[in-house]
Amino acid sequence: MMPAPGKLALVGAGKMGAALLGGWLSGGFSPRDIAVYEPHPGDFLLNLAAEQGFALNPPPAPASVVVLAIKPQMLEAAAPALAPLFGAHSLLISILAGKTIANLSARLPAARIVRAMPNTPASIGRGITGAFAGERVTAAQRESAQRLLGGVGAVEWVASEKLIDAVTAISGSGPAYVFLLVEALARAGADLGLPPDLALRLARATVEGSGELLYRSPETPAEILRKNVTSPGGTTQAALDVLMAEEVLHVLMARATAAAARRAEELSG
Ligand SMILES: NC(=O)c1ccc[n+]([C@@H]2O[C@H](COP(=O)([O-])OP(=O)(O)OC[C@H]3O[C@@H](n4cnc5c(N)ncnc54)[C@H](OP(=O)(O)O)[C@@H]3O)[C@@H](O)[C@H]2O)c1
Repeated sequence: MMPAPGKLALVGAGKMGAALLGGWLSGGFSPRDIAVYEPHPGDFLLNLAAEQGFALNPPPAPASVVVLAIKPQMLEAAAPALAPLFGAHSLLISILAGKTIANLSARLPAARIVRAMPNTPASIGRGITGAFAGERVTAAQRESAQRLLGGVGAVEWVASEKLIDAVTAISGSGPAYVFLLVEALARAGADLGLPPDLALRLARATVEGSGELLYRSPETPAEILRKNVTSPGGTTQAALDVLMAEEVLHVLMARATAAAARRAEELSG
């Protein structure tokens, strides 16, 4: 049984909120310590609440930890009704993209804030979340945040809030780059004469299997890559010579992620 950090309120049980809730429940977090706020609960959430015994939309009362998982554009409208969830020492964990600690503390009576950026593999418990703890967050609260965010995958802490924009550009938006790689590989396969559906199956399974290999291996990607290029003058080498010429892929990735980080900064105003 995971030790409870006291009463926990989850605000917003959409895609990411429901993934977190699922991680807490399967990780042994006591449902009796959880209150979920969701204005239009669907059958799935209603059934889950009945089965597991967490409170759904109870009258708001101060919680030790409030996890905010609504859409960023909902914050302004939702804030007044959320105020009663905060006591003097409550910890707010926000996963709202683009909402800075300053934005959040201007709208909510929260003095201790962790800002976190998860990614979509959280929905299968294999996400990675970048997190930053605001200055009044205690060591015990940071530990609670680590445990709660860790319910859907790994957690990495960054030393400045500004770096959340970089986390957004790498792991927050990163799954989309990988899916694009699958598409590009599939299209290249079709150009080489494979039936398009077969090319897609090959490309997809290659990325799935390579991801799993990386997940299970203690080695760095560079070490695994070197092992894959055992024969100089071989086929992998021929392709890598193109991809690595003048660091073309590295340069492109640096440009793409810089654009994402810039956009994250613009959105957080
Ligand atoms: N998905 C990702 O990959 C990802 C990655 C990093 C961060 N995030 C962040 O995660 C947050 C949630 O994203 P999502 O994809 O899970 O969105 P989502 O599926 O739309 O979930 C948001 C949920 O919050 C509910 N809600 C709206 N107003 C509320 C209120 N006043 N009180 C309680 N609940 C309320 C919504 O209900 P209704 O549908 O009835 O309005 C919806 O169920 C966003 O801020 C996003 O920036 C998402």
